[in-house]
Amino acid sequence: MLILSCSSKLWLLEGMLRRGLPDTLLVYGTVMHVNRGNPAGQEVLVDSWPDFKMVLTRSRREVARDPSDYFTNLYTAFYRDEGACQALLENSCAMNWGQAFQIQGLQDGVYETIRDITRARGLEMETYLYQLLLHPDPPAMPQYRPDKGLRLAPVSPAHAMLLNDTWKFGGNSWSLRYLCLLIRHFPNACLLGPEGTPISWCLTNQLAALTHGYTLPEHRGQHYLRSVVGMLAAQLHARGFPVYTGVLPHNEPSLHSLQCLGFRILPGVFYQLMVRPGFTQSQSASALDSAQDPAPSSGEWPHTHSI
Ligand SMILES: CC(C)(COP(=O)(O)OP(=O)(O)OC[C@H]1O[C@@H](n2cnc3c(N)ncnc32)[C@H](O)[C@@H]1OP(=O)(O)O)[C@@H](O)C(=O)NCCC(=O)NCCS
Repeated sequence: MLILSCSSKLWLLEGMLRRGLPDTLLVYGTVMHVNRGNPAGQEVLVDSWPDFKMVLTRSRREVARDPSDYFTNLYTAFYRDEGACQALLENSCAMNWGQAFQIQGLQDGVYETIRDITRARGLEMETYLYQLLLHPDPPAMPQYRPDKGLRLAPVSPAHAMLLNDTWKFGGNSWSLRYLCLLIRHFPNACLLGPEGTPISWCLTNQLAALTHGYTLPEHRGQHYLRSVVGMLAAQLHARGFPVYTGVLPHNEPSLHSLQCLGFRILPGVFYQLMVRPGFTQSQSASALDSAQDPAPSSGEWPHTHSI
């Protein structure tokens, strides 16, 4: 296992991951941010170099200080070889299994390995399965202009409480700290109402994925999210980032809105796995995680060395 800290190697890795798109999207987005100032303090591990078979990104130890904070303690994974994936995820120098974390990936082997280790260690895992959407041509995105009296703007740290209170995973001090981190360090956009309060917004995260899209209930159905995403996509594209996101398969308004903007649904599953002691598994996760189950497929939607 090697931690890539040399900038020329990290730029080389970015180029290799770019050639593997879209399968590499999550680690590619993360490595892009690492190479452009590394605002969230991520680090990049490989099983070997330069012929890597597995890339794992994680939060630096000094960033993931709180052992219960599964928002900030974030891993992303991409592998070319399942054995290498298993070996790296089992390696306690690579993965800190002693604290709560989340891991995101697009490959079944990541899901299966994390599920098996989680079981063997007596931990519990909560599973979220998203559809992966990518915009093939952001400059061609239709423009939705805001209505009179409304204004597009960046999200401000002063809006973090509103975002935390309306987010279904929010409402606690970890989620608030995490939202503040995203707002301060990654591109975002919102639509301000006449009083200067956000009525619709979207953030991006360490993976450069669009996230936390939200419109206040009383303002839904007026295409506000589309103008917000349009502004954000233009920013991301101008900086060379892909424009992509994950959406829960039953979230029809979100899927519909993004498809109207030209996003395409890619095959496969975007996994978000949250591991922490004492988790009560959600029903869908319990059903999906039964011992003999293979990784769920998109057809099953209803349900230390440094170099
Ligand atoms: C998904 C969400 C952000 C869409 O925001 P929005 O500004 O209402 O987006 P749009 O106006 O483009 O609406 C999308 C679709 O929602 C449906 N819709 C229409 N009126 C609606 C209403 N009053 N309430 C909910 N959905 C409505 C319509 O199908 C609409 O598309 P159409 O006008 O072309 O028929 C918003 O519903 C929301 O905040 N949901 C909760 C959080 C969430 O799911 N976030 C997305 C995570 S990926």
